[in-house]
Amino acid sequence: MHPHEIAQMFSKIARRYDLANRILSFNRDRAWRRELVQQAAPRSGERLLDLCTGTGDVVIAFAYACPALQIVGLDLSEEMLRVAREKCARLGLDQRVQFVHGDVLELPFAESSFEIATIAFGLRNLPDRARGLREIYRVLSHRGRVFILEFSAPQSFLARSVYLPYLRYIVPWVGGMLTGARAPYQYLRDSILSFPNRAQILEELYDVGFRPVGYRDLTFGIATLYWGGKAIC
Ligand SMILES: C[S@@+](CC[C@H](N)C(=O)[O-])C[C@H]1O[C@@H](n2cnc3c(N)ncnc32)[C@H](O)[C@@H]1O
Repeated sequence: MHPHEIAQMFSKIARRYDLANRILSFNRDRAWRRELVQQAAPRSGERLLDLCTGTGDVVIAFAYACPALQIVGLDLSEEMLRVAREKCARLGLDQRVQFVHGDVLELPFAESSFEIATIAFGLRNLPDRARGLREIYRVLSHRGRVFILEFSAPQSFLARSVYLPYLRYIVPWVGGMLTGARAPYQYLRDSILSFPNRAQILEELYDVGFRPVGYRDLTFGIATLYWGGKAIC
């Protein structure tokens, strides 16, 4: 799918996206974003770029965790960004967060513009992952680091036998009922099932130049948190 088609799909569900997330993940999505913030360990004065920011839940979590962080959220869907801006305004965070309309595959930022880049449930959507990762590497400073939160297929037999039927049959149905659009949740299911395994994502990060790289599974491996550093040794 072309990035603009994907963004259009998200625009259609923007208003109900958060509700569907909370219900389909049994509220785990919030805890996963908190883990992301904790792992990133932001420091005052650092610059953060949140890619595929959607309705802004990652930037909001960072804004609360670190008051002196400079925060930019980027997304290709104007409708998702509109919801993100409204949420930040309601929470009094609008002066702290800047939202930019743009494509991860062609980031509108100069080299070394950020110390932290994050992308939560967005990497799966990129038609050219290597290009997206190269763009992220380019805009990070020499002490930069990237954190990627993404859905995974659990590794244990027990977790797989509960989660995979849930993902295959319940998620598209419930997601469709909650948002009025089933296609985005069929796409969610298909893109999770076809997403590469953990070792391959680490290899892709390494190939782009990130060192060290690592990952940690969350909630029985339904989600995985990856990271990569750009430390110049
Ligand atoms: C599943 S949502 C994730 C939103 C948010 N990060 C979260 O944690 O809920 C994926 C988002 O990626 C955006 N997106 C997809 N492809 C993109 C691209 N090439 N560049 C920027 N944003 C993109 C979509 O518009 C959508 O808002």
